Amino acid sequence: MPSADPIAILPRSQTAIVAQGPGKLTVQHDAPIPALASDMVMVKTAAVAINAADAKMLDYSAAPGAIHGYDFAGSIVALGDGVLASGRFAVGDRVAGYVHGMYALSSATYQSSSWKLHQTELTLPRNKLRPDVGAFAEYVGATADLLLKLPDEMTFHEAAGLGVGVATTTVGLFSELGVASLDQLHAGNKDVQDKAEAEFVLVSGGSTATGTRALQLLKLAGLRPIATCSPSNIDLVTRFGAEKAFDYHSPTCAADIRAYTGNQLAYAFDCISQVDTTTLCYAALGRAGGRYVALDPPREAVTQTRAATVEPSWIMGLTLFGSKIALDGEYYRDARPQDRVFGAAAFRAVEDLLHLGLIQPHPVKIMPGGWEGVMRGVDIIRSQPPSGYKMVYTIT
Ligand SMILES: NC(=O)c1ccc[n+]([C@@H]2O[C@H](COP(=O)([O-])OP(=O)(O)OC[C@H]3O[C@@H](n4cnc5c(N)ncnc54)[C@H](OP(=O)(O)O)[C@@H]3O)[C@@H](O)[C@H]2O)c1
Repeated sequence: MPSADPIAILPRSQTAIVAQGPGKLTVQHDAPIPALASDMVMVKTAAVAINAADAKMLDYSAAPGAIHGYDFAGSIVALGDGVLASGRFAVGDRVAGYVHGMYALSSATYQSSSWKLHQTELTLPRNKLRPDVGAFAEYVGATADLLLKLPDEMTFHEAAGLGVGVATTTVGLFSELGVASLDQLHAGNKDVQDKAEAEFVLVSGGSTATGTRALQLLKLAGLRPIATCSPSNIDLVTRFGAEKAFDYHSPTCAADIRAYTGNQLAYAFDCISQVDTTTLCYAALGRAGGRYVALDPPREAVTQTRAATVEPSWIMGLTLFGSKIALDGEYYRDARPQDRVFGAAAFRAVEDLLHLGLIQPHPVKIMPGGWEGVMRGVDIIRSQPPSGYKMVYTIT
């Protein structure tokens, strides 16, 4: 039976993986338990997944003293007042989601940063910095709007990698690329358009965790997803909904895509977002051009080659929290409350599809080693990104 006052049974501190500085993590056994805002729930973590962003953010935007990690799955142990009143979640619910781990401290704040500082930060409004919130922890303070209630048959390991992928692909495809609406997704594959009239969408990096999620959602929204990947992952991307896969190593890859799409491809979603993949997408887009959406800022040297016909942009899944993204340079974003509204709708739509059995998780590999293992996972993804699976870890 859940306690009437679950907060009362939470420990005063927890074990978590905390950033020490650029590229450096440590296991801290007296990290604070996150403060529970009205729109949050407390999740007892069962499994976490490793993302490329775990290494990138640690290397380029480390926030010393803050808990790291984005993707997690576990069980709800406490509810914020607003969530309790909404009735959306209950203590004991099995959920998966993502948080803005290692929420970056501005350099001015960092000058005096320490765990003491975090007490001060917590008295600020909820969209300020939250160094106590990260996925790599026994307890995750999660934003309820951006959680998925899990079907009974889905394991925590399978679910651990869902959060970032759902956020990134829903904002990328249904908000930024604008190729379909979330309502089309709600329809599942009941209202799939006539195949001949449906638009092609290229998912560059179709075998990434982001890519398989994109392929599945595009297919469910009635579009015609095609993908680039290595030959070894053609079966994988086909299973997730690609009607055709193209080997990105082939010198004729772009020409092959143009031929297959009758030179009419108008949408490209680039899950790799490097110079070579931007170049490939630009070459694959049809004669009339269209939209290109990346996950990192695309290089102007490439986008200028078709400036008149192709409209480029790039997104960050973190904007769905609706709060400021306090990163440096072009990664900084003002708060976008409208993204939070979109995110809540997107997570509800995907949750419905999960319970209909229409969303399969990206393949996972359960890795050994507990907390030390998670830190090794961040190192592994930096040097040898996994091909066609996500690394997940048990948190006990
Ligand atoms: N902006 C955001 O909010 C956001 C959110 C999530 C992720 N990301 C970024 O998105 C990228 C993907 O993340 P992820 O976790 O989805 O990736 P992942 O699953 O770790 O990606 C590994 C895959 O990358 C593929 N790959 C490598 N080079 C490629 C190329 N030139 N063309 C096509 N595929 C290639 C490999 O495919 P094959 O083995 O088939 O060759 C491999 O399966 C990362 O850079 C990450 O930082 C950004």
